[in-house]
Amino acid sequence: MPAALVSDTAPRSPAIAARDLTSDLSLSGLELRQLLDLAADVKRHPTRYASALRHRYLSLLFEKPSLRTRLTFELAIKQLGGDAVSSIGPIGDREPTKDIARNLDRWTNAIVARTFLQSTIDELAEWSSVPVINALSDLYHPCQSFADLQTLEERFGGLGGLKLTFVGDGNNVAHSLMINGARSGMHVCVACPPGYEPNSAIVDQSTLFARESGGSITVTQDPLAGVSGAHAVYTDVWTSMGQEAEASERMKIFAGFTVNSRLMSAASANAIFLHCLPAKRGQEVTGEVIESAQSAVFDQAENRLHAQKALLLMLLS
Ligand code: CP
Ligand code: NVA
Repeated sequence: MPAALVSDTAPRSPAIAARDLTSDLSLSGLELRQLLDLAADVKRHPTRYASALRHRYLSLLFEKPSLRTRLTFELAIKQLGGDAVSSIGPIGDREPTKDIARNLDRWTNAIVARTFLQSTIDELAEWSSVPVINALSDLYHPCQSFADLQTLEERFGGLGGLKLTFVGDGNNVAHSLMINGARSGMHVCVACPPGYEPNSAIVDQSTLFARESGGSITVTQDPLAGVSGAHAVYTDVWTSMGQEAEASERMKIFAGFTVNSRLMSAASANAIFLHCLPAKRGQEVTGEVIESAQSAVFDQAENRLHAQKALLLMLLS
C-alpha cells in the first residue's frame, strides 16, 4: 500500500500481492494472523484506509445469490477508495471460463467469484493475471471464516484453546472453519449425520494444522456430546445453494441437528451462537436461539466487511 495513504500508527498491510485466494489454504498461518490483526485495525480506524485502494477495481462474478458477500465486497472496495463491477449468472456457459478470466484481468485488479464448483475458481485463477478471490464454492467459504474468527477473537480475547462446535452439514462453511480454526489453535468439532461428514482430505489437512497449533479436529454424529464445553456453537443451512432438489430428504436426515436452547445449554455457560446466514429458523436453528443474547450472528455479518477490507489490502496493496 502507498505509505502516504496510511497513517504511521496503522499496522502495515503485509503485502501478498498478486496471490490468489482460491481457498483458505492459499494463506499461511502467519498471513491469517496478519489478516485478523489488520481487520481489527480497519474496524477501529476505517478512515485511515479510506484511500488505500484508490483507482483499484474489482470484478464480482456471482453464479449464486448473495446478500452479505457481494454487498460487503462492493462496500469494502468503495470504502477503500476503489470501485467494483459485477456480473451475475453462470460462468462458462456463454464463453469459456479461461476467456472470462483473460477479459477481466485486462480491466480490473482482482476477480471475486462465487461459483458452484471449486474447479471454476481454480480455472479463473489459472488464467487470470490478477488475484482471484473465492467468495464461496462447493468446498470453501474462506471470507466467511475470516469474519467468524474476528468475531470470536472480539468476544473471547483470543482464539487459542477455544472450542467451536459446528452442528450440521460438513460442507463449505465447516471446511473453512476447520482449516482456519485449526491453524489458530482452536478445537473444532463437527457434529453431522452419517454421510454428511466433512471432506476427508480437509479433515486430514486440518488435523495436521491442529497438531502444530495445539488445537484439535473431531467429527462426531452426536450433537449433544459435540457441543459439550463449546465456547461457540455454529450452524449453517441444511440445504446449500444448488442442493434444492435434496431439500425434503435433508429435512429428515438433519432432523436431530437443530441448534435449540437444550443444545446451547450443553455448551459452555458463556457460549455464543454463530451462523453464516441466511438462516432457516425452525430448521438448523430455532428462532429463540438466533434471537437470544448468546447470538453473535450480526457481529459476524458486520465483520464480513472489515475482514474483506483487510484481505483486499493484503492482496491489492
Ligand atoms: N454468509 C454469506 O455468505 O451470505 P451471502 O450468501 O448472503 O453472501
Ligand atoms: N452452505 C451455504 C452457505 C451460504 C452462505 C451454501 O453454500 O449455500
